[in-house]
Amino acid sequence: MTGGEVCGLLVASPAAMENAASDHEDEVAMEGLKWEEPVQSVQELVEKVGVRKVPSMYIRPMKDRPTRAKRGAVAAIARDSWIMDRLPAIDYAALQDEKKRHFAAKELAMACEDWGAFYLINHPIPSSLLHAVQQVAKEFFQLSLQEKQVYANTPNSLIGYGSRMGTSKNTILDWGDYFLHYVWPIEDQAIDESWPRKPPHYRYIIGEYSKKVHKLYEALMGIFSENLGQESNYLGNYFGDGATHILRMNYYPPCPQPHLTLGLGSHSDAGGMTFLLQDEVPGLQLKKDNKWIMVNPLKDALLVNIGDQLQILSNGRYKSVEHRVVVNKHAPRITIAIFCNPADDNIISPAPEFIDKNNPPLYKSMTYGGFLLSFFKKGLDGKGYIESLKRKHQESCCI
Ligand code: OGA
Ligand code: NI
Repeated sequence: MTGGEVCGLLVASPAAMENAASDHEDEVAMEGLKWEEPVQSVQELVEKVGVRKVPSMYIRPMKDRPTRAKRGAVAAIARDSWIMDRLPAIDYAALQDEKKRHFAAKELAMACEDWGAFYLINHPIPSSLLHAVQQVAKEFFQLSLQEKQVYANTPNSLIGYGSRMGTSKNTILDWGDYFLHYVWPIEDQAIDESWPRKPPHYRYIIGEYSKKVHKLYEALMGIFSENLGQESNYLGNYFGDGATHILRMNYYPPCPQPHLTLGLGSHSDAGGMTFLLQDEVPGLQLKKDNKWIMVNPLKDALLVNIGDQLQILSNGRYKSVEHRVVVNKHAPRITIAIFCNPADDNIISPAPEFIDKNNPPLYKSMTYGGFLLSFFKKGLDGKGYIESLKRKHQESCCI
């Protein structure tokens, strides 16, 4: 485990803890976990302490570091990753258009199979709302540390304001702070005290945004299902009525030595799919054919990526993309991710439709909650966790 990257997830519900599938030996109870080291806000470290050198607990081993930025480059970018904009851009309006739908859906299928990620362009979320979301996130991080710490999270849940995810000592830390809370089901919103009260319009703006992202999620799940040769409600049924969405706002402060650290260590998102809203500062890198590709933020586009559960359900047809975040010397970066996840107690396994003599099941079955609990214990390094769920060759004869 390097950074204990646990993305797209939350504390598992008590039901999930009870029901975690028993074919996995690494179940772990979440209660009673403790931070073994004090939690330090990175924003505070930069803005108040004014560190000139990256403290040792943020320094990555050589193999995980981005190489030094070229002079004038905004981000610390590996030389072999200076390839932007190859990522497919999927036209959402075309997916809704009778005449263009077939071609656009094919492009989408290819993006899910080859990349596990795509830009979503021409979607119906207005630019003004995207801007407002970015603005409330910015205003939130501009609050004083005391105001943010009212929402400080605990190692048992991760809901709230935080700066680390792995609980154990000597974890390599990420150069960033975050705020995390459920945004779906939305009925809970009015009574959910985990949502910030400041800035005052936060709840309204994020509520509206979450509803719109939910619609996109439903539409894409339908098209993914059809692209996989199934009825449009196929994947949605697997995710269950208790499917949830979790929002994570990320704040990556400028860094005096960006070539030594990462804003977020390499990982794949644990759930179904993620919608990422980025500001204009680059930082996200995707791994493709073993190379890190820098993602160029595209105005008004959402970056959608496939998570581990869709890779498991589709028996490897769709890929969850490995990604990480690099930081830079000059500009803070803010992103807002919404993770769309299956219900905690739904058992996720390669679906029978994707299994035959030539395509044995690649992964063991497990509840999503069980998957998360194991994450909490081990953390994740790249796609290490989903790899560990792979069946051994001789096990592959039956489900
Ligand atoms: C995440 C994530 C990427 C980014 O929160 O899981 O991968 O650019 N974020 O902030
Ligand atoms: Ni992620």
